[in-house]
Amino acid sequence: MRVGIIGLGYVGLTMAITAAECGVDVYGVEISDHIKDCLRQNRAHFFEPGLDRLIARQNGRNFHCVESFPQDKDFDAFVITVGTPLMAGGLKKPNFEYIKSALRSIAGNYDGGQLIILRSTVSVGTTRNVVLPFLSQLCGKPESDVLAAMCPERTVEGKAVEELTHLPQIISGSNERALEIAQRFFRYMTPYVIPVASLEEAELVKLYCNTYRDMSFAIGNAFCIAAQTFGVDGASVIRHANQGYDRANIALPGFVAGPCLEKDAYILTNNMPDCPSKDFIMSGRRFNESMEDYVVDWVREHVGEPAEDKVVALSGMAFKGQPETSDLRGSTSVYIARKLHALGYRLAMHDFVASREEMQALGLGEVYEDLMDACRGAKALLVLNNHKKYQDVQRIREIGCEKEGFAILDAWGACRDLYHSDGVRIYTLGNFLLDREAQK
Ligand SMILES: NC(=O)c1ccc[n+]([C@@H]2O[C@H](COP(=O)([O-])OP(=O)(O)OC[C@H]3O[C@@H](n4cnc5c(N)ncnc54)[C@H](O)[C@@H]3O)[C@@H](O)[C@H]2O)c1
Repeated sequence: MRVGIIGLGYVGLTMAITAAECGVDVYGVEISDHIKDCLRQNRAHFFEPGLDRLIARQNGRNFHCVESFPQDKDFDAFVITVGTPLMAGGLKKPNFEYIKSALRSIAGNYDGGQLIILRSTVSVGTTRNVVLPFLSQLCGKPESDVLAAMCPERTVEGKAVEELTHLPQIISGSNERALEIAQRFFRYMTPYVIPVASLEEAELVKLYCNTYRDMSFAIGNAFCIAAQTFGVDGASVIRHANQGYDRANIALPGFVAGPCLEKDAYILTNNMPDCPSKDFIMSGRRFNESMEDYVVDWVREHVGEPAEDKVVALSGMAFKGQPETSDLRGSTSVYIARKLHALGYRLAMHDFVASREEMQALGLGEVYEDLMDACRGAKALLVLNNHKKYQDVQRIREIGCEKEGFAILDAWGACRDLYHSDGVRIYTLGNFLLDREAQK
């Protein structure tokens, strides 16, 4: 089987290399020079365990990164994996322009005989109402004969290579033949494919998976904040509610973002008619977004109003610590940094995995290789993701002891062993509002 993949980002590259490993002849096109440069050096442009080794093995063998798909080769399918971000400028509307440009890019190779698989996350109806008419126009066949499939990506960054061959793959097709080719392709990677009844159902499965996660984290965050209004540690009450009791599985408090979770509730509700479901779903997303402001308020309270000498150290800039990733896209840490920077605080940033250049490119403050160096001139430290290395950072306690009035917000409770250390008060999202509530 031969497939062309349009977009070699997180989704496209992991899929391209996994498919190549499983025996598919894969051609990939990408518009970013940086990504293509990295591939020439047999490496990915992001951190993903196991991926570089497979790239080195498949580059030039079953995987070919090309400027455009070769005209002299027959393709069975093309997979669209381009991004579907929200519009720039704060408008929380999905931008599907990349999908349209990806469709245009296959014009030279497409004759209506190939399957077009949409892997990107889209609003309900996009495959039928945008992709099918476009393809029909391109090949001159009626929409009913055009082969399109919606097969959403559900891997998690940091475990994508493993998950691509283990997770069930949701498959849908515009007709029987489309469904058949889509199944054939995914069966190279996994025996576990789930055909669903319609393109719309596949679109919804993806949006439901992510929005469900978003909303369950929102419940954890809302419960946590509510507990503090009663003077109770929010993380503690959630841990005890869950302990040994299977019917409670309440999420611990934390930030909920990243390139998918920050947008998928908006993509789901984008074309949903106004209804109570829509309001309910969006209230979860907005609650998660409001966690940024709670942290900014905590900084004001513990560091004081912004001034030149008010340095705040932020560690854990990638959107999550486990599984570890270098990805800064949609990171709550970056959003918090932007808000603190706009208020006038000086920032010292650190991350165990994210690239120094990418953090510097944010233009929000100094970037440090070493966490302790970042803390040196600071009045407070925010630990903003749950990277495992924080559990080893015994020196955080030393910093707290050495520096009079130094405040630490270990948002995820990542260095929880240190909570009860003498003389150091390490706040968590479970208790960071308790002092304020007590003063009311
Ligand atoms: N990142 C994840 O783990 C993940 C998981 C599930 C679903 N998704 C969804 O998958 C889609 C892709 O996400 P991503 O994280 O891989 O995005 P990404 O931005 O990392 O990758 C998209 C790539 O497509 C390239 N591109 C854009 N237009 C192109 C064109 N016309 N021709 C060739 N290349 C083009 C971009 O340069 C970019 O490298 C999104 O809809 C996202 O919501 C992502």
